[in-house]
Amino acid sequence: MRVGVLTGGGDCPGLNAVIRAVVRKGIEGHGWEIVGFRNGWQGPLEGLTKPIGLAEVEDILTRGGTILGSSRTNPYKVDGGPEKIRQTLSELKVDALIAIGGEDTLGVAKRLTDDGIGVVGVPKTIDNDLGATDYTFGFDTAVHIATESIDRLRTTAESHHRALVVEVMGRHAGWIALHSGLAGGANVILVPERPFSVDKVIEWVQRRFERQFAPIIVVAEGALPEGGAELLASGEKDAFGHVRLGGVGTWLAEEIAAKTGKESRAVVLGHTQRGGTPTAYDRVLATRFGLHAVDAVADGDFGVMVALRGTDIVRVKLAEATAELKTVPLERYAEAEIFFG
Ligand code: F6P
Repeated sequence: MRVGVLTGGGDCPGLNAVIRAVVRKGIEGHGWEIVGFRNGWQGPLEGLTKPIGLAEVEDILTRGGTILGSSRTNPYKVDGGPEKIRQTLSELKVDALIAIGGEDTLGVAKRLTDDGIGVVGVPKTIDNDLGATDYTFGFDTAVHIATESIDRLRTTAESHHRALVVEVMGRHAGWIALHSGLAGGANVILVPERPFSVDKVIEWVQRRFERQFAPIIVVAEGALPEGGAELLASGEKDAFGHVRLGGVGTWLAEEIAAKTGKESRAVVLGHTQRGGTPTAYDRVLATRFGLHAVDAVADGDFGVMVALRGTDIVRVKLAEATAELKTVPLERYAEAEIFFG
């Protein structure tokens, strides 16, 4: 049997750990051949492959990024895309695909399965906003990086008696902001799920300054002030249709400076949250996902995604997995408010 593997969407620490597990179990456990497709769906679309055997995955467990490359190519937005994929798979004699990706990549996986191509999905995103799985790998690493940054920013903020706004990733969901904010002892945490009152933020910031400490404000890139979406540049799209980073944090730092008369700085953590070596937790989760994806292929169980439920890895229908984003429940956010100010 020949099984293809690809990584799509934004990269994420732990992708190589999944690839390694798929290759090790596919080859050593089942005697399969594994075909690596380059750059997400662009690979099967254009027949771009990378030879991938035991030697290629020897040393990649701890390496960030993806040895296969990634892209946001969507074959359903390309003329005759699904047909081209079918043709590549038949030419290369690939019987099934393992697609590692987020919402978009798995949405394509679902449609291809509906169109008769055997695909098993593996969930990945640092944002942790995929439904049907308790956690995605990459999230723990991103939270770890953001928390370490908050710790570092706190000492310089204290030295200069400044407010420090830390903008973290999370276009639609505030998981990274909530978890890193809690872990880093932030004085304000702002998430996309709950539009924020600028006056309230100023009140919390002032309260912190009155106690002679520097306030740390953690804001998710997708957070918006109440009724103030148009105030922010973060809604703007770049030439590729992606939302631009670095809007809300900078804007908020300027508001704080103007309204409190205190010095204020913004730091956009951006892609540092996605780079580098995965944490031990993410390595283990990614490895388990890879092993279970191979099991699903071996069972001929297509149209499913492997998922974490509690401590177990289960299979869920791709349709369920891509149905809706998992945002931060407002009660979870409310728990953190006791620490604000
Ligand atoms: O993977 C999701 C994410 O990290 C978002 O939080 C962020 O907005 C986006 O990717 C940015 O990705 P890129 O710059 O690669 O388009």
